[in-house]
Amino acid sequence: MGLNFARRAVLLVAALGGLVLAPTAASAAPPQPDGDVGVFVVGGTRAASGEFPFMVYLGGCGGSLIRPNVVLTAAHCVGRTGASTSYTARAGSVDRNSFPYSVRSTYVYSGYDVSADGDFALVKLASSIPLTTIAYNTNAANNSGTFTIMGWGATREGGSGSRYLLKASVPFVSDSVCGTNYRRAGYSFSDSEMLCAGPISGGTDTCQGDSGGPMIKTVNGTPVQVGVVSWGRGCARANYPGVYTEVSTFASAITAALARLP
Ligand code: ARG
Repeated sequence: MGLNFARRAVLLVAALGGLVLAPTAASAAPPQPDGDVGVFVVGGTRAASGEFPFMVYLGGCGGSLIRPNVVLTAAHCVGRTGASTSYTARAGSVDRNSFPYSVRSTYVYSGYDVSADGDFALVKLASSIPLTTIAYNTNAANNSGTFTIMGWGATREGGSGSRYLLKASVPFVSDSVCGTNYRRAGYSFSDSEMLCAGPISGGTDTCQGDSGGPMIKTVNGTPVQVGVVSWGRGCARANYPGVYTEVSTFASAITAALARLP
């Protein structure tokens, strides 16, 4: 129990506005009050101010600043390509209610489909945000080890989001384990386009509202975005890790899209 709690504690709040990490119902421990703001976080800790400067809140989804004026998010968060003023990006604080930036247009990856293959999109801002961007992963060798997830999403399956950014550490899960489990349960799973992470015993995960946010890995002291929060069966359930868009697979598509953004 103590171990489980410690693991959950890692989950919490980090920085800006979008993702929520959910602790799992299966391993539910009593919620721990968040001393500062009265929200309950399942097993997490709040991100420190400035810890994830690239983290963006997109009103119900997360995103990451990959260029001073471009946010990488999930396709299922924005839905279509074209001019758009229906989103506001918020960045620069762990509080999701801070610093609004206007959106100019969105680009949804052309290969995105209903089974969530290629679940990424770009959001172009009307102006640049003076914050540190994050590199998107171009090297598949980075797709293993321990990752960090973050967001303003639900703190438990079926729960509500967090005002303050939460973060957690999650282990890589191989396609052979993750893909097999999901396929057996009737889900469509693409080994090359999806990257899984989360303890196989459950308890730590992203959840609804965290979509579009980054999963990162520290490579030689620098954060690199290896995943985009995409989907999962419930949240933080045993044997069903979080599923992330495998960024390295789409790195050249992201680069090409950046060059063509309206
Ligand atoms: N699709 C969800 C969203 O729109 C994210 C789900 C992530 N689920 C998970 N178990 N990791 O916010």
